[in-house]
Amino acid sequence: MSPISTKIHGDILIVEANNPPVNALGHAVREGLVKAIEAADAKEAVKAVVIIGLGQTFFAGADISEFGTPKAFAQPVLPQVVDIIENCTKPVVAAVHGTALGGGLEVALACHYRVAVPSAKFGVPEVKLGILPGAGGTQRLPRVAGVAKALEMATSGNPIGAKEAHDIGLVDRLIEGDLEQHAVAFAEEVRAIRPLPKSSERDDKLAEARANPALFDDFRKANAKKFRGFDAPEAVIKSIEAAVAKPYAEGVLDERKLFMELMSGTQAKAQQYFFFAERKAAKIEGLPEDTRPRDIRKVGVIGAGTMGGGISMNFLSAGIPVTIVETTQEALDRGTGIMLKNYEATAAKGRMTAEQVGQAMALLTPTLDLNALADCDLIIEAVFENMDVKKEIFTKLDAIARAGAILASNTSYLSIDEIAATTKRPQDVLGLHFFSPANVMKLLEVVRGAKTAPDVLVTAMQLAKRIRKVAVVAGVTYGFIGNRMLMPRQLQANQLLLEGASPEQIDRVHVEFGMPMGPFQMADLAGVDIGWHRDPNRIENIRDKLAALGRWGQKKGAGYYDYDEKRRPTPSPVVAEVIDEWRKKTGTEQREITDQEIIERTLYTMVNEGALILEGGFAQRASDIDVVWVYGYGWPVYRGGPMFWADTEGLAKIVEGLKRQQPRLGPDFRLSSLLVSKAEAGEKLTR
Ligand code: 3HC
Repeated sequence: MSPISTKIHGDILIVEANNPPVNALGHAVREGLVKAIEAADAKEAVKAVVIIGLGQTFFAGADISEFGTPKAFAQPVLPQVVDIIENCTKPVVAAVHGTALGGGLEVALACHYRVAVPSAKFGVPEVKLGILPGAGGTQRLPRVAGVAKALEMATSGNPIGAKEAHDIGLVDRLIEGDLEQHAVAFAEEVRAIRPLPKSSERDDKLAEARANPALFDDFRKANAKKFRGFDAPEAVIKSIEAAVAKPYAEGVLDERKLFMELMSGTQAKAQQYFFFAERKAAKIEGLPEDTRPRDIRKVGVIGAGTMGGGISMNFLSAGIPVTIVETTQEALDRGTGIMLKNYEATAAKGRMTAEQVGQAMALLTPTLDLNALADCDLIIEAVFENMDVKKEIFTKLDAIARAGAILASNTSYLSIDEIAATTKRPQDVLGLHFFSPANVMKLLEVVRGAKTAPDVLVTAMQLAKRIRKVAVVAGVTYGFIGNRMLMPRQLQANQLLLEGASPEQIDRVHVEFGMPMGPFQMADLAGVDIGWHRDPNRIENIRDKLAALGRWGQKKGAGYYDYDEKRRPTPSPVVAEVIDEWRKKTGTEQREITDQEIIERTLYTMVNEGALILEGGFAQRASDIDVVWVYGYGWPVYRGGPMFWADTEGLAKIVEGLKRQQPRLGPDFRLSSLLVSKAEAGEKLTR
């Protein structure tokens, strides 16, 4: 059955799309749309057309799962569909609810009119898939919404709300009440108006940019940092430049050419792979199908430090009450004060209203009494990394928490099984590893203990969605997925310093690769002294020595780099001396280190660690590891993630590099047999 059906209401033809879950514009939908429009053209009795989506949304874009398959190019392709719609001889009205995204917005732009419910959203997220709007979107959107808005929407990929869309003329009328009924009434109103308003023929909103073509370079400069490394934003800008500089018929040809170039590149493949990777991460293999989540109405957080405060904010922002516990009034006041300040900073940026700040903070109950957690459905421990302290807390919680409450630890490294064993309810215990700053970072590692119950896991995954996190399931292994993979990288980076590389060289290689910062920049930001205070007399490596010298990183104005008052880094002669001293002490010979060696020793070893994690069953699938690295550590999404990148490089090349470097990788290095076997079989980690 075609996903497109039609019905007549008076002399208005209503074209309904029914392709759940998001009415993606797959081949059958495209074909159905063309047939419906042709029928409207042919039937004398039809005076106007309304296109509407059934289910949760209007069209959410092209069908991404068709990309790379012959179906994507099966006629009619989307550029043909939108032209057929725009050239319909009867007025066509797009009736939008949910989201009109990508190809969905392009369909709406090709319609002669657009009406929408106030909750509808409009966007061109193609850039997030490494491509650009390829069905006239870069040509019609600037003509309808203006060049500046089109640039912003198409390079960020972020949608705008219906109210804004209405204000800028993208939506002709906002509809309160029944969408179909009002869209039909609107169609009745406009049915006789000629000539039909066609987006592709509009010129008025291009005039300003035509008078000021420098705006494109200004836009490039203003966003250079954000676009660094990505191909798609520049192609989007070029395509919109063509819309301004050339007639429509030529502009669409430029758009098509740029679209095809992007589509055949590795970035598009990586970003489209990542789209599905992110969604797959939410799925847990092997759980009984009838597993139902537990109800979470109230959350308890132990510890009001940076992590505890950030974690609490996630729930408060989602309207879930939080009881936060500290051991001293001073720590409690400091913690809640910082939370309020963070909210106020968000409000100052216009991302929250003062009223919303008040509502969020009103849901917070600060207390010094652990017993106050007795009525919480989920309790998250967020104290410092010390197993004895955590065990003591969980023993107490076991006595306090109500039956069926979920007990979670925010540990970054420690064994959830060991923590769970201190309670009489290990089935209710799991790890919820948030990343700092916890109110901002999207990643949540959900650590599954040996005895964690299925419904506890399902609850955690569902809750993650409620607080807008991307959750990935990890097994119990030191550092879980992300931090475990960070370890070989840090180890090798430090060893490379001894062998002759500088912090600047190693960081540069990582930044050029696309990481937001290199290992030493990261250490300076996080604190060189982390972990050192436990035993300040211990000086076993360069890092300990820098910590002992008070070079704790950015917060002290000195770490692996020297910093000025604006926190701008410069290479440090003191650090160079310390490195030299350690070279002598360890008898390490200095030599020229190539950038390629840095990649092999810091990134290939991470890939190897990822493969060991897979081999040990500590991650469900390779793509989950990629989700951890993109959302937790800023791995450039245009490289898909470490596992996808390894596949792109070729596993044989990775294994060969690792074998070549093996003598320098230290006694603990173990080559993953999974990696080797996949390389030998010519297979991929991500399949
Ligand atoms: N193609 C194929 N499948 C899609 C899809 C699409 N465009 N959009 C969503 N899906 C699938 C998801 O993979 C998921 O499948 P699953 O249940 O099997 O995991 C299911 O639909 C539901 O998606 P979400 O879990 O993301 O549901 P949400 O309700 O959270 O979000 C959404 C809905 C906002 C529509 C979100 O799915 C989304 O942003 N989709 C992508 C939109 C997009 O990128 N459109 C542009 C496509 S490219 C294009 O149009 C090219 C053109 O210019 C030529």
